[in-house]
Amino acid sequence: MSDKLIIFDTTLRDGEQSPGASMTKDEKVRIAKLLEKMRVDVIEAGFPIASQGDFESVQAVANAVKDSTICGLSRALDKDIDRVGEALKGANSARIHTFIATSPIHMEMKLRMSPDQVVEQAVKAVKRARQHTDNVEFSPEDAGRSELDFLCRVIEAVIDAGATTINIPDTVGYNVPDQFGGLIKNLIERIPNSDKAVFSVHCHNDLGLAVANSLSAVMNGARQVECTINGLGERAGNASLEEIVMAVRTRQDIFGCDTGLDTTQIVPASRLVSGITGFPVQPNKAIVGANAFAHESGIHQDGVLKNRETYEIMCAEDVGWSTNRMVLGKHSGRNAFRTRLNELGISFEAEEELNDAFKRFKDLADKKHEIYDDDLQALVTDASVEAENEHVKLVALKVCSETGERPDASITLSVDSEERQAHSEGSGPVDAAFKAIESIVNSGSDLQLYSVNNVTNGTDSQGEVTVRLEKGGRIINGQGADTDIVIASAKAYINAVNKIMAVDDRAHPQL
Ligand code: KIV
Ligand code: ZN
Repeated sequence: MSDKLIIFDTTLRDGEQSPGASMTKDEKVRIAKLLEKMRVDVIEAGFPIASQGDFESVQAVANAVKDSTICGLSRALDKDIDRVGEALKGANSARIHTFIATSPIHMEMKLRMSPDQVVEQAVKAVKRARQHTDNVEFSPEDAGRSELDFLCRVIEAVIDAGATTINIPDTVGYNVPDQFGGLIKNLIERIPNSDKAVFSVHCHNDLGLAVANSLSAVMNGARQVECTINGLGERAGNASLEEIVMAVRTRQDIFGCDTGLDTTQIVPASRLVSGITGFPVQPNKAIVGANAFAHESGIHQDGVLKNRETYEIMCAEDVGWSTNRMVLGKHSGRNAFRTRLNELGISFEAEEELNDAFKRFKDLADKKHEIYDDDLQALVTDASVEAENEHVKLVALKVCSETGERPDASITLSVDSEERQAHSEGSGPVDAAFKAIESIVNSGSDLQLYSVNNVTNGTDSQGEVTVRLEKGGRIINGQGADTDIVIASAKAYINAVNKIMAVDDRAHPQL
């Protein structure tokens, strides 16, 4: 059995299916470039048939990334598969991932197909995909609730038809580790041609067991794990990449395989994904949480000072905690700025975009003397957020907050290039600013979540604000960053409003 564990990242596909986590094409390319730098083996870039936006994102990632294999998802339908083939034309290395459900409940209630029809369609789909590429992955959706004999039958047939990776999804996160590991072992032992394919797993986290189930599968012969940065994904999410990668690396004695990843890119990737999607990372999250390497108890601190290994099983530096370097300041030039952005995997297609970002950097450096990598990431996210949403822009904001007085805000917005002004009171300066914006834009949405995170330490840090709005059942996240958190809040609100106004080009069909 191979000692290489293939890491298949699906942040840009399953991760994007988290309500409110939709990403633009440019954001997807930025994340993909960082995943490439991390040496992720396969990047699932999207679901091209879902929308024109998804198609173009997969195409853009396929053109931009050269070292990782780029994968696109398709149902087991000719038109889906051909669309993936088209989107992946520019890829150095392309994979088509096709799926059809195999559990009794999905076949009867959702597909309304007999088991024989499902086998036939699965085989046809794999053969069709092989006309585009010889790297074809097949998933029996809801495998975790499928019957073993039927799974064996479908999988044997699709391997014969040319599938090179067989992915076993626990689509609804129903399995537990012993059972799921046993399933993988049984499949590999019972399917006569199982040696012709790599077995993969894709676990959802509904019972909080996605990582445990994936690792149990690895111990039982799986050699590819599908996962996402920060465990982002449909409902409770997917197995988190950082936990899988660090578990197999830290416990080499147990797993007998390893990934070839550059783990120092893990924390930067976590921050990038969190900044772009607006999904904060909980402080006690393993590996990438702010407290993951912090020791509070005196006994622990004393132990670590004497010998780090008394209370630490991994080095913070190995997962990229020290990479948030202070790199630039007020006197840094354009070239240094561009060079550091390139090192962070950020590049601009047009010189104008770089000029714009450089101007923002100089403005920030005037307010905040030490500029860290995280500041640069926030600055670029903020810039792309504004650039892509043209309808409403913040022109000016003035808030007044005084002890014993009701705060008020005066705002000027540009709405489709026409300046509009409003004034509002609120229970706090942020509330007043939001009310003033709403009185101009009348978005008719409900505020569901408001959160502020400091980008770096210190009171001069930029605040990164996430605003979640709901309208007609649709959830939209907006982000904004600024050293003034009321301005950051207004930017985040305006960003969400712009997304609501934009034509929804990124809807996903129900899987
Ligand atoms: O959860 C799931 O079953 C999926 C498949 C498309 C692999 O995301
Ligand atoms: Zn999934």
